[in-house]
Amino acid sequence: MARVLVIGGGIAGLWIAVKAADAGHEVEVVTKAALVEGSTRHAQGGIAAALFPDDSVERHYADTIAAGAGLSDPAAVRVLCDEGPARVRDLIRFGVAFDRGDSGLARGLEAAHSRARILHAGGDGTGAAIESALVATVRRRAVRVHEHTMLVDLLVERGCVVGARLLAASGFTEVRADAVVLATGGSGCLYRHTTNPDVATGDGVAAAWRAGAEVADLEFVQFHPTALAAPGTPLASEAVRGEGAVIVDEHGDRFMPDVDPRAELAPRDVVARAVWKRMAQQDGRPVFLDATALGAEFLAARFPGIDAACRDAGFDWGTQPVPITPAAHYAMGGVVTDLDGRTTLPGLFAVGECARTGVHGANRLASNSLLEAAVFADRAARALGVATMSAGTSGRHADRTTLVRGVSADSSCISRVETVDLLDTVDRGALQALMWEHAGLERSGVGLAAASAALDAWSAPVVVDRRTAEDRNLLDLARLTVAAAIARTGSVGAHFRTDDPDAATAEPLVAAPTTPSVAAD
Ligand code: SIN
Repeated sequence: MARVLVIGGGIAGLWIAVKAADAGHEVEVVTKAALVEGSTRHAQGGIAAALFPDDSVERHYADTIAAGAGLSDPAAVRVLCDEGPARVRDLIRFGVAFDRGDSGLARGLEAAHSRARILHAGGDGTGAAIESALVATVRRRAVRVHEHTMLVDLLVERGCVVGARLLAASGFTEVRADAVVLATGGSGCLYRHTTNPDVATGDGVAAAWRAGAEVADLEFVQFHPTALAAPGTPLASEAVRGEGAVIVDEHGDRFMPDVDPRAELAPRDVVARAVWKRMAQQDGRPVFLDATALGAEFLAARFPGIDAACRDAGFDWGTQPVPITPAAHYAMGGVVTDLDGRTTLPGLFAVGECARTGVHGANRLASNSLLEAAVFADRAARALGVATMSAGTSGRHADRTTLVRGVSADSSCISRVETVDLLDTVDRGALQALMWEHAGLERSGVGLAAASAALDAWSAPVVVDRRTAEDRNLLDLARLTVAAAIARTGSVGAHFRTDDPDAATAEPLVAAPTTPSVAAD
């Protein structure tokens, strides 16, 4: 029996907590905020798996590989698509009531899927339904859950992760464990506009990197094309377009059919860039999601959450097109893992959005994220206690930007935060604006160099509370993201370089920096 510390309370963290407890491990879960405040609850579209007679694992595999723009790891995609249906059945056993129609489970269509295969619950409340079911399931286990307890740093001894330094309401504390599982979600808060909740500050990826774990593909940030242009940029799911909604400019003209034959259901990166470009042509004014053809009654029944968000924002989407903007949505990169969630540091696992399993390549296929979390958390639960990187995925791959901190893995991560220098401490709003402008939907060598210089001019704050701990993580991740985007000089998937826009010239082999100039040392 191992003592397992899970950091994060979304689908990935709760899944591994449940399965590890069932396997007899002693499990503790910590979450930075309340258990339900992570990104999982906000997932709208649903979960993709090959479950219907007109579909197949092969089709799902092919769609995922195609969306990834040639950079997905075929072995990871194979695992995802093969094991996906069983994990969806597990969710049903956990109590998730997926929506049903006359002939069984209902299913939606989203961009770049060759079949309608997206299961949903509560219309557009899939994430909330999954989160509630998993919270209830974990509560029935002997799992200790500590809310409002944030990861500060990993404890590393002789090259192994042996626990974590945490920040709870009572102050700093250290917890030792045989295995630490990062399930800390994404980092959308790097950007001025994001669909992510404000807990998404990349804490696990930043801490793993500071501890010496390999991180990769951080330049691949997925921007969702249709967030409502309203406070909090609430998501308007791709499933709305799957049902037939279209995107129009300020003159009411559809432009996606001229961009891609798949129009509004082209891969997410293609639609997001087209929206971005059209907005630029309109001097930054929003374009519109026109769902009026679907009718107010249908919209309210099929998408109750978006319907409410529209009303809150003062929009009546049943009768009028609603203004939209692209927004940072999902991090394809993260802590490098093997197919069982093991990172390059013994004792450390990563699952869910903070992990870089290789499934998503340069662009994630819609509704593969909940599935990835379930599939790989399940595998990691079985691998707990065998905490070494498998030979098959250790070392560098030619097709990814890998970044490893240039410190010995067993050095203390904690004393670094005490360093004070003469630079200005990072300003979160300014960092988000900088990332949006220079490391967002379009990047250029010149803009990235400017961003890099600006980031270098900031120092990390001394960590005294949640806010300063998050700001340090955001600064580390911004620097790493910009370094990775500079290193990948060609365009591919979600990484679009205006100075080399032709995807065919993208050079996947990149010499990534091993010692980003981080001021926290
Ligand atoms: C959406 O509902 O559009 C988002 C689904 C996803 O990010 O996979």
